[in-house]
Amino acid sequence: MSDESRPSPGAASTAAVIPAAGRGVRLGPGAPKALRALNGTPMLIHAVRAMAASNAVSLVIVVAPPEGATEVKSMLDAHALPERTDFVVVPGGATRQESVKLGLDALPPGYETVLVHDAARPLVPVDTVDAVIDAVREGAPAVVPALPLADTVKEVAPATAPGAPEPVVATPDRARLRAVQTPQGFDRATLVRAHETVTNDVTDDASMVEQLGLRVVVVPGHEEAFKVTRPLDLVLAEAVLARRRLNDGF
Ligand code: C5P
Repeated sequence: MSDESRPSPGAASTAAVIPAAGRGVRLGPGAPKALRALNGTPMLIHAVRAMAASNAVSLVIVVAPPEGATEVKSMLDAHALPERTDFVVVPGGATRQESVKLGLDALPPGYETVLVHDAARPLVPVDTVDAVIDAVREGAPAVVPALPLADTVKEVAPATAPGAPEPVVATPDRARLRAVQTPQGFDRATLVRAHETVTNDVTDDASMVEQLGLRVVVVPGHEEAFKVTRPLDLVLAEAVLARRRLNDGF
């Protein structure tokens, strides 16, 4: 779509930042994780399509491996993506947090709701994306999709010697725990302030907002929003895609 015919973003406009600059070492050797194929299509393209599937999302900012931004740009050009969505690629940083910050720095004015979505969660359904956006629009400064845990979780202390068993120090009440997914949704000003203020290492963006003392809420996540981390997750992701193709009648 040309710039002239595209509506300018308003208060209701949503942008998605996709950090995709990780190496994904737990998947084994090979290309950066986001660039690996699932059923012949790079994981990143699946993730970009998952964000653009929401009618509310009109801009997707992809944070690419620093040395791979050109390759990622060509990859986006080579795949069919919705016309009504803009796509921007920026080089990422050394940590996920830094990569998200670099993505936020590239966000033009006018987008008041921001999603942060891991490229490593390529199959999140659009209903989950929309539920996160709706909760932000209804006034929550930060929203995370999450699921109850199947496993009991133990907190452990470091082992007393290398190779020795780790002592368990606590068993949190499983009923009160949630496994958190992405996209996480934010009021833009809140997320920007969180990234400017919080400097300690975090594994998700919502925890930075928690550190500001602001309200973070949970909406239901989805089992298909799992993170592709280990080799077995690739098998599961391809099975989910195969099931979708069957259900869609292809
Ligand atoms: O390593 P982990 O699976 O937690 O990474 C989550 C997401 O953050 C992935 O999509 C990965 O590409 C991204 N990431 C990044 N920049 C880094 C490290 C991770 O964009 N330096």
